[in-house]
Amino acid sequence: MKGALTLINGNIYSPEEAKISIFDRGFLFGDSIYEVTISHDRKLLFFDEHLSRFQRSAKLIGLDLDFTKEIITENAIKLLQAFNEENAYIRMIVTRGIDEIALNPSNNIKQNLIMITKKAPFYESILYDKGIYLNLVERKRNDKEALDPNAKSGNYLNNILAIKEAKKSNAYDAIMENQKGEVTEGTTFNIWFIKNKQIFTPHAKSGLLEGITRAKLLEFCRNAKLDVQEVTCTKEDFYNADEVFITSSTKGIMPVYQLNSRVYHEKLSDNSITKKLMNLYNENVKVHLNETPYIF
Ligand code: PDD
Repeated sequence: MKGALTLINGNIYSPEEAKISIFDRGFLFGDSIYEVTISHDRKLLFFDEHLSRFQRSAKLIGLDLDFTKEIITENAIKLLQAFNEENAYIRMIVTRGIDEIALNPSNNIKQNLIMITKKAPFYESILYDKGIYLNLVERKRNDKEALDPNAKSGNYLNNILAIKEAKKSNAYDAIMENQKGEVTEGTTFNIWFIKNKQIFTPHAKSGLLEGITRAKLLEFCRNAKLDVQEVTCTKEDFYNADEVFITSSTKGIMPVYQLNSRVYHEKLSDNSITKKLMNLYNENVKVHLNETPYIF
């Protein structure tokens, strides 16, 4: 991993030096949680919201977090200052820690706080001007009664299998239904559709990660008095939609030009609602960044 810098329990390491025990439950079982956000001009995007979701994920996997929001923030700022890159990606991970090889965790094991920073990913402009081709795959999103997708855990096998399936059709990425045939989300992003100028996104009760970008866009749309709804929806809703787009912290809003054999457009029109939402989102992000205390 070139061009990255890491932090393990308060100490900074080069990618080559960064080592964690093979007896860590994060490695053995994916028994960990994580968050990802980016910075623009040294200002962290929606950091408070990411800290809160970190705590929610911990609760959902029965992890009594050893690290307060203040400690996590201090460590993140320390790493970002050392890396010294204005537009950075930061991944913050807490594992349940090193233990005997047994599923049931021992009491009082010490959690590990690990962070990785690198340059914020660069997405070619064509991905925003035209968009991406997605595949709705056969692989189902794991059931929220089994492993709630709303916990941002370090176990992404479900999503890995989905993107591998999508790549077989040369798609950029995958979206998944739940067992009931309701559309949930993509492998690392939420999904939206527009029909007759109304904006829709799958309801959290279908089983998905409630993305920060999703929550923020819902808020920005409602503030702008746009008609936006969280609904249970099927693939037909997406095929019959006028426009489709995705959201995530690293990508922002990215249009979708094709879903399986349904083509939405060749080039995203300036009059499209997606384009308007991209502008609305970017304007609100600017305001937020001017006000954030999370600066390094
Ligand atoms: N992924 N759904 C899943 C399964 C995700 O992993 C993510 C985030 C999202 C979007 O959430 P947010 O808007 O908070 O980024 C939805 C991050 C970007 C990642 O794993 O790199």
